[in-house]
Amino acid sequence: MHKFLRVTLASVIGFGAMGVAANLMTKEAKAVEIITHWVPHEVYGQIGEPDNNGKVFFSGLGAKYMGYPKDSGAPPYPGKYSKFWKTLPAYRYYIPDYMYNRDEVRPSNPIKGTFQLEQCIACHSVMTPGIVRDYKKSAHSRAEPSPTGCDTCHGNNHQKLTMPSSKACGTSECHETQYSEQGQGGIGSHASCSSFAQVECAWSIERPPGDTAGCTFCHTSPEERCSTCHQRHQFDPKVARKSEQCKTCHWGKDHRDWEAYDIGLHGTVYQVNKWDPKQFDWDKKLADADYVGPTCQYCHMRGGHHNVQRFSTVYASMGMSMADRGAPIWKEKRDRWASVCDDCHSPRFAKENLQAMDESVKDAGLKYRETFKIAADLVKDGVADPMPKDLCPDWSGQHIWSLKIGAYHDDPAFGGKAGESGEFRMSNCTDIERLCFESVGYFQTYIYKGMAHGSWNDATYSDGSFGMDRWLVNVKQDASQARRLAALEKKVGITWVPESFWKTGEWLDQLTGPYIVKNHPGKTIFDLCPDPGWLDTHHAPAEEVEYINRKIKELGWATGHDAHHGDTHDEASRSMGKTH
Ligand code: HEC
Ligand code: HEC
Ligand code: HEC
Ligand code: HEC
Ligand code: HEC
Ligand code: HEC
Ligand code: HEC
Repeated sequence: MHKFLRVTLASVIGFGAMGVAANLMTKEAKAVEIITHWVPHEVYGQIGEPDNNGKVFFSGLGAKYMGYPKDSGAPPYPGKYSKFWKTLPAYRYYIPDYMYNRDEVRPSNPIKGTFQLEQCIACHSVMTPGIVRDYKKSAHSRAEPSPTGCDTCHGNNHQKLTMPSSKACGTSECHETQYSEQGQGGIGSHASCSSFAQVECAWSIERPPGDTAGCTFCHTSPEERCSTCHQRHQFDPKVARKSEQCKTCHWGKDHRDWEAYDIGLHGTVYQVNKWDPKQFDWDKKLADADYVGPTCQYCHMRGGHHNVQRFSTVYASMGMSMADRGAPIWKEKRDRWASVCDDCHSPRFAKENLQAMDESVKDAGLKYRETFKIAADLVKDGVADPMPKDLCPDWSGQHIWSLKIGAYHDDPAFGGKAGESGEFRMSNCTDIERLCFESVGYFQTYIYKGMAHGSWNDATYSDGSFGMDRWLVNVKQDASQARRLAALEKKVGITWVPESFWKTGEWLDQLTGPYIVKNHPGKTIFDLCPDPGWLDTHHAPAEEVEYINRKIKELGWATGHDAHHGDTHDEASRSMGKTH
């Protein structure tokens, strides 16, 4: 039922009844008051306030994103660390503007000549009949006054073909609205996932390209190309409306949105009814309460708006950093979410279910705190095997503990300069570090996603909080063994020498750190890539930006772009500027 109809109905029922309703609403608001634990405050040693005020804690992988702000006029590529960013030729299709459409990089092509649409179609019905078939079914082929043909999108000159990027689709003659809507997303959204995660994230810089091709697929696509949700060459919006369309990227270990949805009742309602046009009419534009159950798009692209982050409470590092989305400062956003749910549920049902999510995330944070502290203490006490100094250099060419999060963990035992962050390493670290990473990166994110998407079952069971318990047990066990062994060695007089396989090896030699140490002795990646970088937070909520800037000041870090020159290549560059 449409909201305005409901309002009309309510007025028909009468003001008396509404008075009673208003009363109930007040009681309801009290009932959902949030229980507080002080999570990130304690987990990450964040100075100042506990996090039950709902302000975001900043760390996670964000420390590595430093890119050119999109609106500065500078291209998003090359990024700050592009010198070390390794690519495969196939990436050209994923980042077309940078890697295909420029004359310097355009691949050669055996066909010479300039052709008209009919010729493209004639030859390609033989060359690539699948593409021609799809094109013929598309609205583009039927566009008036003239079709949007192969040549419109790819050019007429076969020696200068282009691959249409989002930008190409988003021109004023075509789909400006969707392009600009998508561009309204901030960090963590489809608007910035390519430039940040792809060129600036240590993982993609440190490792050989074949190793991180997956990053390229998921992270370039939604920003650089409209085709991932729209399935070239038919571009039929009814295809984009189906939940599976998000699945290609929103699944797996650290962002199991699909799994959570699919296991929950919403996914079930979807799967059971999706072929029935009376329940899901895919030809219709997205509209409130049009379906029997919600799709991903129904909730995250409400009304067809292309900024998928429009409803997000706050950028939250995949759910790793935000403890309390239910806190009073996010009330407006919480109410907006409830207004999505109340298309089909009562407002109280909606709010209490979302509150359940907050509680589970907080509990997960407490568990992570304990897990993390055990690991940190081992390093501080010098009994971790290996210690950061005994490893092959990390992505920056230094020896920094993988879980050192910026200024929060400035203990000399963690390595690196003040304020510098480590990198969540996948290999070449202690088992405990890896378990810690998985605990927050896999389990905590899943608990959040499970609860957010109505699969409470899984948020608790298997890979939810029970899985997190398992990792905590492992960490405790490993830590106690390490300490017992260290005590024994001390007693017997054995001087522990770390295994050489931590330092070099066929695999390790492929990484950027050893390369820097070998070829640029005494330098770090920051010296070699001195260009300033900063976080693109143009659309971060004002409270978040204000808060983070204040914290940066309190920590005594320099702020702003200028601070980045010279040798202050540290977290200062994370200063957040809100330009509009
Ligand atoms: C005479 C035949 C012929 C005509 C006419 C023709 N093409 Fe092609 N086209 C090819 C062949 C062959 C390839 C495969 C080339 C390759 O893979 O190296 C190709 C490849 C392409 C590609 C993919 C390039 C790549 O790097 O992956 C695009 C896009 C394309 N054509 C668009 C067009 C457009 C647009 C027109 C009309 C303006 C057109 N073609 C006309 C034969 C033709
Ligand atoms: C509305 C724009 C549009 C039209 C019209 C269009 N294409 Fe494409 N085409 C795309 C997009 C988007 C991609 C994917 C680009 C990328 O991956 O970077 C693509 C990719 C391709 C590719 C290379 C990738 C692959 O899957 O092999 C070929 C070949 C191609 N198109 C041929 C054609 C031909 C032939 C026609 C006409 C029958 C045509 N296109 C019409 C938008 C279009
Ligand atoms: C081709 C891959 C891809 C597809 C398809 C895709 N996404 Fe995303 N999405 C991403 C990536 C990558 C990010 C995270 C970017 C980052 O953190 O830098 C993201 C971010 C998001 C966010 C914001 C997350 C945050 O923390 O703020 C939402 C919400 C979202 N996507 C929803 C959707 C929905 C709904 C669909 C389907 C209609 C969809 N996405 C389809 C790759 C994809
Ligand atoms: C995350 C998935 C996703 C991405 C990425 C995406 N779209 Fe869409 N698009 C959708 C969905 C879902 C709809 C259906 C919206 C509706 O029903 O109102 C849609 C609908 C459209 C429509 C039809 C609107 C109408 O009123 O019929 C256009 C045009 C469009 N998208 C263009 C684009 C362009 C241009 C881009 C790239 C800048 C893009 N889309 C990227 C999911 C996506
Ligand atoms: C019933 C509505 C609903 C459906 C359906 C739904 N989500 Fe969500 N989603 C939410 C809510 C609520 C949150 C938590 C938002 C918050 O933290 O404030 C969330 C969180 C997310 C996030 C984290 C980013 C953010 O907004 O904070 C992503 C990414 C995401 N969902 C993707 C998906 C994908 C992909 C699907 C489909 C497989 C999906 N969602 C289906 C409601 C929904
Ligand atoms: C299966 C698709 C997929 C693959 C593969 C993938 N990502 Fe992501 N990534 C996502 C999605 C989706 C999100 C956003 C989830 C959310 O916000 O809830 C994300 C989030 C991120 C973030 C944001 C974390 C933060 O602090 O907010 C970074 C950085 C990132 N990915 C980097 C990478 C790198 C580097 C790789 C390769 C090693 C990679 N991703 C591989 C889909 C993928
Ligand atoms: C388009 C309609 C629709 C929207 C919007 C919607 N839901 Fe649902 N929801 C359903 C249906 C249908 C079911 C399945 C009921 C059943 O099978 O008993 C359901 C089930 C649920 C369940 C499981 C309840 C149970 O009894 O186990 C939860 C939790 C839930 N929804 C939460 C939400 C939240 C939170 C939102 C908003 C973020 C939301 N829903 C938005 C239609 C919707």
